Amino acid sequence: MSDKKLWSGRFNEPTDAFVEAFTASVEFDQRLYKYDIQGSIAHATMLARGGILTEAERDAIIAGLQRIQDRIEAGGFEWSVELEDVHMNVESALTADIGEAGKKLHTGRSRNDQVATDIRLYLRDEIEALRAAIRRLQEALLEVAEREADTILPGFTHLQTAQPVTFGHHMMAWFEMLERDSGRLADCNRRLNAMPLGAAALAGTTYPIDRHYSASLLGFERPCENSLDAVSDRDFAIEFTSAAAITMMHLSRMSEELIIWSSAQFAFITLSDSFCTGSSIMPQKKNPDVPELVRGKSGRIFGHLIGLLTLMKSQPLAYNKDNQEDKEPLFDTVDNLKGSLKVFADMIPAITCRRDRMREAALKGFATATDLADYLVRKGIPFRDAHEVVGRAVALCVERERDLAELSLEELQGFSPAIGEDVHQVLTLEGSVAARDHIGGTAPAQVRAAIDRARQRLG
Ligand code: ARG
Repeated sequence: MSDKKLWSGRFNEPTDAFVEAFTASVEFDQRLYKYDIQGSIAHATMLARGGILTEAERDAIIAGLQRIQDRIEAGGFEWSVELEDVHMNVESALTADIGEAGKKLHTGRSRNDQVATDIRLYLRDEIEALRAAIRRLQEALLEVAEREADTILPGFTHLQTAQPVTFGHHMMAWFEMLERDSGRLADCNRRLNAMPLGAAALAGTTYPIDRHYSASLLGFERPCENSLDAVSDRDFAIEFTSAAAITMMHLSRMSEELIIWSSAQFAFITLSDSFCTGSSIMPQKKNPDVPELVRGKSGRIFGHLIGLLTLMKSQPLAYNKDNQEDKEPLFDTVDNLKGSLKVFADMIPAITCRRDRMREAALKGFATATDLADYLVRKGIPFRDAHEVVGRAVALCVERERDLAELSLEELQGFSPAIGEDVHQVLTLEGSVAARDHIGGTAPAQVRAAIDRARQRLG
């Protein structure tokens, strides 16, 4: 490996050995190699089209870069810390391979616009992969929602029994959360899909470049409008991490419910053995490690969001070396979000619902008290009075350890003479969920309609 730095012209002393390692990024930015090479090929193609490189030089550069990519992918590329980052490693290997033409690749460009381009290309691909991963999880949720459209469990507010809901409805709530997450990533992609190349170090370049042409070669929608902004902006990374953090927050909520539901005390669901682990000391244990870990991972992603915001806070224009610190949090966010989505998509269809347990729980806790109040309203009693009447009936039930549905007609009529024989239908779980029969409601028929609409939205 050449021991001469690509920028050493004005230096008399060699770099301090520790500083060299301390300032290098190649250890982590080498994973951008594909995008770096893609960007360089587009840059060389544009330079040749403008007569800044000859066609022969362009061809040599492109062939050389492709050989480097093959070498990297075959594991035969030696990364050098002295060459600091992925950009200088690739460029220097190119010159070693093809000679003079390699030295011309960096014409009209800087690592500042190069790295900004690489990260955008990288994120654009990852956003597509993440949206596909979200979609896979959504499809898994639709499958369970369909299977459990009629399954009734208690719905909670304040983690206290509120009203009966269907499990399918609950799965569709998760579906909606993910639908917005996917939309946020798509929005983020729209803003980041602009090309920094041509901004060079910060002010643009004196060569007759065609930025629209290189943008089209790289599939960018447009070149970035302002060169200073192009090399210094990392708000797309913050926006992405923010969307990722919200998705992880959603996954942490789903995790929490899976953990609660699979506890012995709730026993609403069983998670497949393949997603749980045992305890080395307590033989009876089956721990919901996967949802717990995903819940835990949300913390580091929130941390990355704050880290990136703080990284950019107060940075003067244009590029500063601080920006090198954007990559590790970004990569870690992508990797952990992708992993969490994948494991969820695999785990969700393998949930077993313990319908008897859910039903038993829904029968406790006066889940149909609101239905009784609504019944009285239909009999002409103002809602506030009806609420009071039902409250007194519940108090009696609590005292006698009975459920509303277990009170006799006479007992119920003791609270309000408006109550008739038709009341018991209203107090059943099936009657309660079926009555919420409008768009967005928990009735099984509505859940099925929501599943149909969701499938159409997924396309
Ligand atoms: N490794 C650097 C980074 O990741 C590349 C850009 C360096 N530019 C510079 N002028 N030092 O940000």
